[in-house]
Amino acid sequence: METLRWENGTLYILDQTALPLQVSYLAAKDYRKVVEAIRRLAVRGAPAIGVAAAYAVVLAALEFGREGAGGFLARLETAANEIRKARPTAVNLDWGVRRQLAVAGEKRSCAPQEIVEALLAEAAAIAAADQEGNKAIGMHGAALLPRGASVLTHCNAGSLATSGYGTALGIIRSAHAAGKIKMVYAGETRPLLQGARLTCFELRRDGIPVTLITDSMAGYLMARKGLDAVIVGADRIAANGDTANKIGTYSLAVLANYHGVPFYVAAPFSTVDPDMPGGAGIPIEERGAEEVTHFAGEPVAAAGTVVWNPSFDLTPGQLITAIITEKGVIYPPYHITDRADGR
Ligand code: MRU
Repeated sequence: METLRWENGTLYILDQTALPLQVSYLAAKDYRKVVEAIRRLAVRGAPAIGVAAAYAVVLAALEFGREGAGGFLARLETAANEIRKARPTAVNLDWGVRRQLAVAGEKRSCAPQEIVEALLAEAAAIAAADQEGNKAIGMHGAALLPRGASVLTHCNAGSLATSGYGTALGIIRSAHAAGKIKMVYAGETRPLLQGARLTCFELRRDGIPVTLITDSMAGYLMARKGLDAVIVGADRIAANGDTANKIGTYSLAVLANYHGVPFYVAAPFSTVDPDMPGGAGIPIEERGAEEVTHFAGEPVAAAGTVVWNPSFDLTPGQLITAIITEKGVIYPPYHITDRADGR
């Protein structure tokens, strides 16, 4: 199932807010519609929003190109700034936009139509490289798991969160293909249930054994059943290994540390921000109260209840056993200076 598909000037976005009950696509011909889809998590997951952002720049270029060459690049930059602000935490979003602006800059003396073609080729290249990279992450990560492994994952760092295959779920897919997976435990991931709605959906479709738990069951799972690894994705990794990922990740890292369970972060280099020395500078998105006060549209808290709803948290590098990238496995102490292409 494709998360994003480009066809004849339209970006088709799998609407992940409707999963697993309904498989439907939003058709975006306007970059503003992509921004809106990113904001409301119709498309989500760091690599996928990086790719969506790259295609959003193509849509903006198509629109401004139709309106004539005057001020084309300046208008494109204004739209690019709007796109990169759609969500603050995943650095892939900014990275996808920057790659596109670099392409537009190189072609600045060309006609808009030629720039559009170059941008389209770049967006397709970003998507293809993401999928390739995930397979490499899968291979490197699967090698770290024992046979008969029980692993816990959080949120959805799968095919749905990328251009295909997934990061954390890419490792699980590769390990399953190698006959190593006994059971995957998926945390439901309150408040928006990406674990329950998306990870269980993805793994079940692929015939990979999965058991759903609520987030509060993770400690007892480790104590009672034992685990071979916790594997999560990332939205931004600082140079010292501090990692922003879906809220609840930090709690899992602390629990894994206490129980002696290896805690792995799986991510492509497009998620690494070497300009961020530590996690303290990573902007953490805070979302609306309704996501917490309501469940499936129904209120579950008294009206007026005060809410704090950070969408991500920070796991210190010291709690991370290894960071698994497309280029290989990185072990602590982390000092990540490599850059993804185009940054
Ligand atoms: O709010 P979301 O659903 O976009 O959060 C997604 C995550 O936190 C993922 O773990 C992360 O983006 C990595 S996806 C390969």
